[in-house]
Amino acid sequence: MDFELTDEQRMIRDTAREFAAREVAPKAAELDKNARWPSEILTKMAELGLFGVAIPQEHGGAGMDTLSYALAMEEISAACASCGVIMSVNNSLFCDPVYKFGNDDQKKRVLAPVASGEKLGCFGLTEPMSGSDAQTMVTGAERTAGGFILNGAKNWITNGPHADWIIVFAVTDRSGPKVKHTAFLVERGTPGFTQNAADHKLGIHAAHSCTVFFENCKVPDANIVGKVGDGFKVAMATLDGGRIGIACQAIGIARAAFEKSVAYAKERKSFGVPIAQHQAIQFMLADMATQIDAARLLAWRAAKMKDQGVRHTAESAMAKLYASEMATRVTHKAIQVHGGYGYSTEFPVERNYRDARITEIYEGTSEIQRIVIAANLLR
Ligand code: CAA
Repeated sequence: MDFELTDEQRMIRDTAREFAAREVAPKAAELDKNARWPSEILTKMAELGLFGVAIPQEHGGAGMDTLSYALAMEEISAACASCGVIMSVNNSLFCDPVYKFGNDDQKKRVLAPVASGEKLGCFGLTEPMSGSDAQTMVTGAERTAGGFILNGAKNWITNGPHADWIIVFAVTDRSGPKVKHTAFLVERGTPGFTQNAADHKLGIHAAHSCTVFFENCKVPDANIVGKVGDGFKVAMATLDGGRIGIACQAIGIARAAFEKSVAYAKERKSFGVPIAQHQAIQFMLADMATQIDAARLLAWRAAKMKDQGVRHTAESAMAKLYASEMATRVTHKAIQVHGGYGYSTEFPVERNYRDARITEIYEGTSEIQRIVIAANLLR
């Protein structure tokens, strides 16, 4: 595998890094404290093409590749994990399936404005009683003239309180031995489609999520993504890409905590020397750096495979599993390096620690990633 980045990949990484340092990082603590939706940052991210990084320009995107997306995701997430997941959901969970499975009309009417960041997308799979066991969803869609009538609820919908469009999955056939699902596009304002207020969470406070409801919500045939009955495959293939984005979010969070730890260890003194001179601290920093690099290599491999059009289900699951658990370990150690100050809200590593935790849960828990990896090993 070639680890050399192209000029274009270096350019998007450097642009995202410079933008994140200038516009995002200075606001991250305030966004977290007030659970404030970062509208002004999102507008600028859209101008940089960060809402449809790997979507071709003709469909409103930046026309780059998945590795470029991975690089940008790490940079934005290192500054603000909330901005990272807002970006990830729009790119991976909304634009990617509409690009891959949508028809020309949907690409023009729905994808182009979302990939350019003019509109925002979200993804509705999880339900109050169906998370890991996604096929057991109860949200259903009944045939009607010219479309389907949706009824049900979806929860933990990141971007849900603000999104203009949702790609939502519903059961459309319960007659056979296996239920069949279908993917639908529903626009905000469609009668019968409503959103609850934002959830209260441990971390990623500025990335609002909520429960959404469908009550006799009519969706026209023109808004079916892919074939009727193929919705579960659309969802699973989408998560193969989404898990790369979350791996990069976790890597960004961990890198931020690591960099703060290195700087602090060089400054803070104990027993008459900077704590960086104590082997106990050096070993923590060495482990942190090694694990961040290992996670990044897994994420880049999955991104490259996606770009090559090779099935990357297991590799994405490995990247997400390792990166998310790594981020929890690294941010835990970052607090340890900082001692009492690490536990204080005056220092950013406590936010990194809270933000890291969700990466082990959403887009499939660590346990689900292990199931996916094992299923592919034993196939
Ligand atoms: N690509 C394409 N098709 C796939 C696929 C993939 N990666 N994985 C499975 N499929 C297909 C299978 O081939 C199978 O097809 P057939 O019926 O034709 O044989 C079908 O999908 C069902 O597959 P399984 O029998 O393997 O399905 P399962 O019920 O055993 O579930 C699972 C598998 C891996 C546990 C899955 O349910 C899963 O990934 N669960 C976790 C769900 C998840 O990640 N939710 C996250 C929500 S999104 C979120 O968090 C967003 C946010 O806010 C950030």
